[in-house]
Amino acid sequence: MDIQSQYLIIENLNKNFGSFQALANISIEINEGEFVCFLGPSGCGKTTLLRCIAGLEVQTSGSIIQNRELISDLPTSQRDFGIVFQSYALFPNLSCFENIAYGLQSLRWARKDINQRVEELLSLIGLSEHTAKYPSQLSGGEQQRIALARAIATSPNLLLLDEPLSALDAKVRVHLRQELKNFHRRLGLTTIMVTHDQEEALSIADRIFVMDGGRVMQSGTPEEIYLNPKNPFVANFIGMTNFIDGKVSSSDSIKISEKHITIDGHGFQKGEKVRLAARPEGIQFTTKKNKKTFQGKVKDIEFLGSFLRIYLETPIIPNRLMIADKPMFGNADTSFEIGDSVNFTMSSDFLNVYKCDH
Ligand SMILES: Nc1ncnc2c1ncn2[C@@H]1O[C@H](COP(=O)(O)OP(=O)(O)OP(=O)(O)O)[C@@H](O)[C@H]1O
Ligand SMILES: [Mg+2]
Repeated sequence: MDIQSQYLIIENLNKNFGSFQALANISIEINEGEFVCFLGPSGCGKTTLLRCIAGLEVQTSGSIIQNRELISDLPTSQRDFGIVFQSYALFPNLSCFENIAYGLQSLRWARKDINQRVEELLSLIGLSEHTAKYPSQLSGGEQQRIALARAIATSPNLLLLDEPLSALDAKVRVHLRQELKNFHRRLGLTTIMVTHDQEEALSIADRIFVMDGGRVMQSGTPEEIYLNPKNPFVANFIGMTNFIDGKVSSSDSIKISEKHITIDGHGFQKGEKVRLAARPEGIQFTTKKNKKTFQGKVKDIEFLGSFLRIYLETPIIPNRLMIADKPMFGNADTSFEIGDSVNFTMSSDFLNVYKCDH
């Protein structure tokens, strides 16, 4: 499959509800076979964008092209997609079999073809034993798997998922996330999943579109977005971040409360005020105290399995605690307790520099 071929192109899409602008000039492209996530806080327009692609919502302006065809003015019934919603939208009065068969019956498939297709789908989602059950007799995870089978029964070329895992408990959610990923690997179906869970998006997507206030703030692979967030909003929304104020001292160094740290190619002018975003895993503890190290006091320690999350009081972040993640094993010479004074450095690989907006 040619992964580079653009399957879905959205151009200058706007959607207003009365005077409220829910989508502002969205222009994105999704490649054939890609698994993308629309990720952002509640109310940022994720569902609205998905519904515009499905034709369940009509855009105020702009266009959507799917597989080289302008679809933005087509009714839902003439668009090519399968959809799964957050809450189990199965028909409660139909069995699993009938739920999955529903779309095929509307297309007037022959009985024996329907039987064959539904059995194939039930086996694909691992629920062959449950064919006669009704939705109320299934767990949440099983219901979402049936909803997924129903969405792809008619072999659509685009799969739309609106928070399909968010109503499930944590364990089932992680398991089903893995299943979705395998499922996508096997079928290669172009898939768009809406989520507000950054960990879910990072773990499953080929590419993430981070949204806020009806706009796409950044798109990129999970690694790109995590390591090089374009602005403080993305840095803060994806993963954990410590914000630190600084001032540019030269083309490759920034001054943070009387200390200078080296950051190559930050691109800001000498004397400019900047905001640094430091990832917790980029904070390294050291027993040495010198002109490169910063000082802090341990206020709290959380045990999180493979690492410790340390909360530090430090003059470089007034009024807030800094978060530092320290691997459980290794660096045994820097074990400490609440109340201890510590020294740390910050790895420039986990630092990003932004224009200061205050
Ligand atoms: N039919 C509607 N009429 C008026 N406003 C709407 C309508 N649908 C959505 N909105 C508004 O548009 C904005 C975006 O809504 P949308 O449902 O797309 O958000 P979302 O990103 O999916 O959020 P969530 O994560 O909570 O599901 C919200 O402020 C919402 O109140
Ligand atoms: Mg939503």
